[in-house]
Amino acid sequence: MFGMRGKKTNGNGRNSQENQPIIDLRGVSKHYQTSAGDFTALDGIDLTVEHGEFVAVIGKSGCGKSTLLNMITGIDHPSDGEVYVNDTAVHELNEGEIAKWRGTNIGIVFQFFQLLPTLTVIENVMLPMDFCKVIPAREREQRAMELLELVGIEEEAYKLPTALSGGQQQRVAIARSLANDPPLIVTDEPTGNLDSRTAERIFTLFKKLVAEGKTIIMVTHDNDLSDRVDRAVILADGQVIDYGYDRREREEAADYSELVATPA
Ligand SMILES: Nc1ncnc2c1ncn2[C@@H]1O[C@H](COP(=O)(O)OP(=O)(O)O)[C@@H](O)[C@H]1O
Ligand SMILES: [Mg+2]
Repeated sequence: MFGMRGKKTNGNGRNSQENQPIIDLRGVSKHYQTSAGDFTALDGIDLTVEHGEFVAVIGKSGCGKSTLLNMITGIDHPSDGEVYVNDTAVHELNEGEIAKWRGTNIGIVFQFFQLLPTLTVIENVMLPMDFCKVIPAREREQRAMELLELVGIEEEAYKLPTALSGGQQQRVAIARSLANDPPLIVTDEPTGNLDSRTAERIFTLFKKLVAEGKTIIMVTHDNDLSDRVDRAVILADGQVIDYGYDRREREEAADYSELVATPA
């Protein structure tokens, strides 16, 4: 099996995965060898994300956002540090293990959808199920159709992706990311290629998924969206310069104050 971290005991004396962060990065660094020498893309990142959080990652172009997501998905390996996702030590998985693990644990949504052009929409959604074989074969087509209904695109199921608009293709990509019911969705600029109205529909869909219990970490350039998630983590030059907790605490304090009766 995949490398697991020693379970910590929570305050109730029980071991519970739900009480562990779903993402736990410890001292994660990433160095690239370039012709100009050693380049540090990530510099000692410590970051946790709890189950059910919707977290945005923001920062200037080149600050390391995509590299950070690649550490979480295991698309790339850290030079230093540890990456735990759902208690799996991702940095210890080898190439053979990682694709299978990723297929059932993480749904990935890219900026440019990355649907296979020769497969129909529903075949694209079934592909991760066929690869991971967790969903029984006889249930896959019906499940794919239900996911297409969830994202409101079931009428396009038997078309090729090229027949769809960008926003529709992104909804298919979201349905595909949910194929094996992963607890975590990782998405890099999912609305970066969409007009603002379409972007809003995609964001609303992510909100719905979080309300249903998914965890989402989303790189975005869109300040409007990053203001409307649970918290926004700010990266600069490969370091976290703001975890986004302060803003949330301020907002929660504001909400709380309204509930407390003011003494006469
Ligand atoms: N494979 C690579 N080789 C060398 N440098 C890279 C590589 N991938 C990314 N970088 C550099 O690392 C930095 C962070 O990249 P990236 O994570 O893509 O930034 P962001 O997504 O925030 O725009 C950039 O300066 C980029 O040029
Ligand atoms: Mg990027």
